[in-house]
Amino acid sequence: MPAVNYQEFLRSRRSVRRFLAGVIAREIVERILTTSTFASSAHNRQPWRFAVVTSAGARSRLAMSMAEAYRRDLSTDQVSQKEIDQIVQRSTQRIKAAPVLVVLCMDSTEMDSYSDPRRAEAERVMAVQSTANAGMLMLLAAHAEGLGAVWNCAPLFAPQEVGGALGLPAAWEPQAMLMMGAPAEAPEARPRKPLSSILRHL
Ligand SMILES: Cc1cc2nc3c(=O)[nH]c(=O)nc-3n(C[C@H](O)[C@H](O)[C@H](O)COP(=O)(O)O)c2cc1C
Repeated sequence: MPAVNYQEFLRSRRSVRRFLAGVIAREIVERILTTSTFASSAHNRQPWRFAVVTSAGARSRLAMSMAEAYRRDLSTDQVSQKEIDQIVQRSTQRIKAAPVLVVLCMDSTEMDSYSDPRRAEAERVMAVQSTANAGMLMLLAAHAEGLGAVWNCAPLFAPQEVGGALGLPAAWEPQAMLMMGAPAEAPEARPRKPLSSILRHL
């Protein structure tokens, strides 16, 4: 493919939030996840971990635990009970409707350790950045399969609940949840800041 077409392909990815019902073959999911592992990572430590949720039981446990955490958080904001119910119900429905959920986790146990907080924090950020790289590549790999996908940040706000609901190893820190499936919508490109406003040539 000529280079310009790669740019077009990369730019044509969208966050897709509505999916057609139907199973996505495990082989396709694993192809996407394998591509995701080709992401760049700090020291090549590959701190990403993937929990693929497709069974009704795991999906329901995940949705319930996240709803509980969401409800708890919203109740500390100035949000009415009716609004909380609506927001939580919408979130639960989205979790239940996505054919594939990948909980993207970070295991930082193989990263370098430092005794001083400044370098320890920088190393932790590198693990987060590396894990996010895998997430971005996962979105693109899903797109390459003709699937839609969206990044969802909710697990970051409820890592204990998500880990508990799925029985994840203690070292797996949930960072995000990627929802995937055959797209039921074709969203327009969201606006981008002009390059001139975010760029400095020096
Ligand atoms: C770290 C991160 C967190 C996000 N969290 C959510 C989310 O919780 N729910 C959601 O619908 N989209 C979420 N998104 C998707 C963004 O809203 C989306 O990428 C952005 O609006 C640009 O749209 P596009 O992906 O179609 O280009 C998230 C994206 C990132 C990178």
